[in-house]
Amino acid sequence: MTNFVSSIVFVLAATSFFSLSTGELRDKLTPTQPLADDGGALISAAGNFELTFFSPADSSNRYIGIRYHANSDHVVVWVANRQRPVISRSGRLSVTTNGTLIVTEDNSTVVVWSSSSPALKIPVARLLDNGNFVVMEAGSSDERSSYAWQSFDFPTDTLLPGMMLGWDLDTGVSRNLTAWRSASNPAPGDYVAGLDRQGDPQLFLWNGTRPYWRGGPWNGLRFSGVPDMAAMEPGNDLGVYYEFLIDPSQVFYWFGMRNPLIISRLVMNHSGLLQRFLWIHEKSNWVLLGHRPKVEDPCDKVLSPCGQNAFCKCDAGHAEPEASPVVDICECLQGFHPKDTKDWTRGCARETTMLKECGNRADGFFNLSNAKLPDTSRSTVNWTVSLEQCKDLCLNNCSCTAYASSNISGVVSGCINWTTDLTDLMVYTGEPGQDLYVRQLAVDSGHSHRGNLVTVIVASVLAICIVAIAVTACWIWRMKKRRRHFDDKAESKDLDLPVFHLSTIIDATVNFSIDNKLGEGGFGPVYKGKLGNDQEIAVKRLSKSSSQGVDEFKNEVILIAKLQHRNLVRLLGCCVQGGERILVYEYMPNGSLDAFLFNEAKSTMLDWQRRYNIIVGIARALLYLHHDSRFKIIHRDLKASNVLLDKDMNPKISDFGMARIFRGDDSEVNTRRIVGTYGYMSPEYAMDGTFSIKSDVFSFGVLVLEIISGKRNRGVYQSALHLNLLGHIWNLWQADNASELIDKSIGPSVSTAELMSCIKIGLLCVQERPGDRPTMH
Ligand SMILES: *[C@@H]1O[C@H](CO)[C@@H](O)[C@H](O)[C@H]1NC(C)=O
Ligand SMILES: *[C@@H]1O[C@H](CO)[C@@H](O)[C@H](O)[C@H]1NC(C)=O
Ligand SMILES: *[C@@H]1O[C@H](CO)[C@@H](O)[C@H](O)[C@H]1NC(C)=O
Ligand SMILES: *[C@@H]1O[C@H](CO)[C@@H](O)[C@H](O)[C@H]1NC(C)=O
Ligand SMILES: *[C@@H]1O[C@H](CO)[C@@H](O)[C@H](O)[C@H]1NC(C)=O
Ligand SMILES: *[C@@H]1O[C@H](CO)[C@@H](O)[C@H](O)[C@H]1NC(C)=O
Ligand SMILES: *[C@@H]1O[C@H](CO)[C@@H](O)[C@H](O)[C@H]1NC(C)=O
Ligand SMILES: *[C@@H]1O[C@H](CO)[C@@H](O)[C@H](O)[C@H]1NC(C)=O
Ligand SMILES: *[C@@H]1O[C@H](CO)[C@@H](O)[C@H](O)[C@H]1NC(C)=O
Ligand SMILES: *[C@@H]1O[C@H](CO)[C@@H](O)[C@H](O)[C@H]1NC(C)=O
Repeated sequence: MTNFVSSIVFVLAATSFFSLSTGELRDKLTPTQPLADDGGALISAAGNFELTFFSPADSSNRYIGIRYHANSDHVVVWVANRQRPVISRSGRLSVTTNGTLIVTEDNSTVVVWSSSSPALKIPVARLLDNGNFVVMEAGSSDERSSYAWQSFDFPTDTLLPGMMLGWDLDTGVSRNLTAWRSASNPAPGDYVAGLDRQGDPQLFLWNGTRPYWRGGPWNGLRFSGVPDMAAMEPGNDLGVYYEFLIDPSQVFYWFGMRNPLIISRLVMNHSGLLQRFLWIHEKSNWVLLGHRPKVEDPCDKVLSPCGQNAFCKCDAGHAEPEASPVVDICECLQGFHPKDTKDWTRGCARETTMLKECGNRADGFFNLSNAKLPDTSRSTVNWTVSLEQCKDLCLNNCSCTAYASSNISGVVSGCINWTTDLTDLMVYTGEPGQDLYVRQLAVDSGHSHRGNLVTVIVASVLAICIVAIAVTACWIWRMKKRRRHFDDKAESKDLDLPVFHLSTIIDATVNFSIDNKLGEGGFGPVYKGKLGNDQEIAVKRLSKSSSQGVDEFKNEVILIAKLQHRNLVRLLGCCVQGGERILVYEYMPNGSLDAFLFNEAKSTMLDWQRRYNIIVGIARALLYLHHDSRFKIIHRDLKASNVLLDKDMNPKISDFGMARIFRGDDSEVNTRRIVGTYGYMSPEYAMDGTFSIKSDVFSFGVLVLEIISGKRNRGVYQSALHLNLLGHIWNLWQADNASELIDKSIGPSVSTAELMSCIKIGLLCVQERPGDRPTMH
């Protein structure tokens, strides 16, 4: 309604204004009625768009362009003579008698721009209400097929609803978005958004010829790398819909609006960001709905941040860092190990040389779900083959590294296969991705190496002599048995720690059943389990990014098992078998502190006495780790979800020593990969990657303030401490208003002296400079 009224007001205003210069409101250009640079304009019938001469901000150059008419800020969406401006106000746009559009200057003596020549009899050029400027034969029907020329075929930096991005494969013509050189210069700049037609066509952003962001292939619903398009799919309030057309003669993407009153545009901004804007009538303003690359997301900011055969753990979209323990963002695919843990851009290599080991009938595929598909520019796609057929094709050809469905809309169908290393791969949390099936060699996938050796040996011997089989197999079996016996002894001798068999763990957790999953820590999922004697355990299945060898791993586990304190969760044993690395802990029936602290109902169970007890317990554990244990241990990821509560609500820290397991070095070092969780990370760690016991002290301070306030410290550390809980508490403290920060669920039974000293300690611990923070003594 507002829109309707304002359109009328605009049309009226425009009518009275232009009647002064041109005498009539028009949307047409004919050979006898050119458009001069005298304030005149073509205005589309309903007043949505105008075509006129204009000067960009901070420039006196004149360009002929199309811009919004009804919207107050007249954003330019198309420019004709973007390469060659008219210097004076002597420009003129005309349609010649044969239907060519020309822009001239100096009283029609110099042509600065012209359209292709369609050769019409009685040409007319019209500005349509969708923003398309078309040339056609006068009197012909208003449909696409009758346009001899249209501005929609020559996009500049903006994609309007109905405008197509992509390739006409018959003519080889590419339609892409090219940014302006700057806000005051519409000449084509370096940033281009378009479809790359190699392999399975993908959306890309280029800087000159260098790609800097990959939107991935179209998966039937959206671009694989733009999961937030889902928020605008059918049923969404904004009413944006997307179309993708692919056949042997064309590949095109476009979008449309279900509700024509809603205005949206996609623009390749001169800053290098592809942005989607929405016009909000109530605010009379453009709102930025989304942009790519997501410079705030380490997984999206650069191409392939984790290198080949690795994936980036992306918590894109929902700008709630607290929801996501941002631990190492990179992880190798199953069966791969990092080439260089200090430089992930080098990616991961297979644990087994593929060619030599491929072809085993036991090979299979690892299902990586919720993924952004890896680069498809060198992959092959068949839109009709079924996923089952695809699997067989891929399995039977050793050069096939992975496959995935090419269309997940409706019935899953079609197939993409890769024969190269997989790059720029992501796994989403909280946003929709798709399943990628990565080839898994039998030798790497949990069956033991020895098992395969037996198969191979037996198979070859079979060809020679049946009798020999029995002898050989028997011999191998005996060898195996002897060796296993020897291994067991060696383990129990120097481990001092129960080593569980994988089968025991599998029984205890009902084969890692999803029903038994307690959560997903930074280092892998945790399952509840029950041993034969009914003892409850927590099983942590470490993710595979550790580059450590088996012996190194065992050594670390033994060290950690030696750390014993009543405020540390007890490690009961481990399991290293079939590619698995598993830690077994005592089970903590009350779960983690965050589940109580940040839950309105449960937080009332934490009165001040309990909270104080928890703070003191955590402090004791840290003191032990930092100073009193045999080796100085820095936790590095202390947070509410890593504090577990036993049946009497006593706190016990979990996940200590994990940094040792994953890095094998615990001195003050500089690490390029940031471990830890936003909100708890100290500034020096978040910014420079340096950590020390003082980084743990910072996390402890945050935790103390959270326990007192019952609120989460959200967000990344800001050096101006104002945007988060810490800043808020500091301000209240300064204003002598500390009572306001105390969690209401604590109830009345508070010892003010204890409380005030805890707040003071908390604030001392979160000081910006590590040197100013106290130690745990
Ligand atoms: C262009 O035409 C205008 C009048 O239409 C005239 O005043 C001006 O002098 C002409 N300029 C040139 C360069 O011929
Ligand atoms: C149409 O006219 C323009 C300018 O008058 C000329 O350059 C072009 O060659 C003509 N095109 C055709 C197809 O005749
Ligand atoms: C973008 O389109 C223009 C015009 O068709 C073409 O010259 C250019 O090569 C295209 N750029 C890319 C990266 O496809
Ligand atoms: C380019 O991006 C900036 C910052 O988001 C924005 O202010 C500007 O309007 C954008 N330009 C266009 C043409 O949309
Ligand atoms: C594009 O390339 C230029 C020159 O190499 C560089 O300065 C600029 O930062 C690049 N922009 C992006 C978005 O990568
Ligand atoms: C792959 O995993 C996803 C999610 O767990 C599941 O929906 C899908 O069915 C799996 N695919 C196969 C072939 O098992
Ligand atoms: C796709 O697969 C089908 C069924 O296997 C086959 O008939 C067809 O030729 C394939 N198309 C291409 C382009 O390979
Ligand atoms: C990949 O897919 C194409 C098209 O379906 C097929 O011709 C080819 O055999 C497949 N290659 C592998 C290695 O699976
Ligand atoms: C395996 O696939 C590759 C690539 O698709 C192809 O060149 C090769 O001929 C295939 N090999 C066999 C044995 O089918
Ligand atoms: C994907 O599948 C849907 C439903 O089966 C179909 O309508 C659509 O045309 C397919 N898309 C492509 C690109 O094949």
